[in-house]
Amino acid sequence: MVVTRRTMLRLAASAAAATCLPALGATPLTMGFSQVGAESEWRTANTASIKEAAGKDGVNLKFADAQQKQENQVKAIRSFIAQRVDVIAFSPVVESGFETVLREAKAAKIPVILTDRAVNVTDKSLYTTFIGSDFVEEGRLAARWLLQQAAKTPGKKYNIVELQGTVGSAPAIDRKAGFAEVIKGNPNLTIIRSQTGDFTRAKGKEVMEAFLKAQGNNINVLYAHNDDMAIGAIQAIEEAGMKPGKDILIISIDGVKGAFEAMMAGKLNVTIECNPLLGPQLMQIARDVVAGKPVPKRITVVEGVFPAEQAAREFPNRRY
Ligand code: AHR
Repeated sequence: MVVTRRTMLRLAASAAAATCLPALGATPLTMGFSQVGAESEWRTANTASIKEAAGKDGVNLKFADAQQKQENQVKAIRSFIAQRVDVIAFSPVVESGFETVLREAKAAKIPVILTDRAVNVTDKSLYTTFIGSDFVEEGRLAARWLLQQAAKTPGKKYNIVELQGTVGSAPAIDRKAGFAEVIKGNPNLTIIRSQTGDFTRAKGKEVMEAFLKAQGNNINVLYAHNDDMAIGAIQAIEEAGMKPGKDILIISIDGVKGAFEAMMAGKLNVTIECNPLLGPQLMQIARDVVAGKPVPKRITVVEGVFPAEQAAREFPNRRY
């Protein structure tokens, strides 16, 4: 068969259509993405998923790491507006304080997609859609697991310490609220200390050390808003001569490999899944948004609960 240049171009165009890559000669979609930072195993997996999906989809990704600072995100979004990207996506460090820059994006007619975390704005038209987990539900699931454990020991009092995520962030606010809602009114479950560990292992360890100093043997349960803080806290508990997962029950959120390893070692009791692999869905939604197709205002991710008893069986299936 003689393959002409035209045939080759036609083949390339149909291959591109099949893989979502832009056809030869077509301008690829440009996305400005502002990431929170690299504070946790979860975040690393989320960044990798976004970069990989953009590469596969032929999206020209302008990626900016905010290093957990809101001012860096605002700067990045302004720079995306100045560069006239097709779409802006970001995972906000905190919920409030984005109204002004989102108005600027709207005035420049650049659609904004929220990923992972929400913003607190009165005018919901400032963003097109929000893809991410239901953090309140994650908090509820964590508390429901504890209720089930407590039901096995009627009358026993459980003193809980809570390691919160970054102050003002959607997951910290919502996970706290969901957990509190479920344990409310239960006389056997009491939060005796609650402080931020900023979603990092180092801070999780540091704050847990302080909790142990103040409360020692009085602590029965640790509720950590993410696995990294729980893993840091496990170290603190061991250094204090106690057995994590036994002397202190540990509940955390994310479902990263590190949490599964801790569960298999008997040091963590349950992790509530929060799926970071949002990249492919984000690219698809971005295409739809730029093409002017209607998209749902809120897209939630379906997630599971993994107690320690299931860890060894599930571990080989974990992708992050
Ligand atoms: O916004 C998602 C949260 O941010 C994850 O639970 C946490 O690990 C991360 O840093």
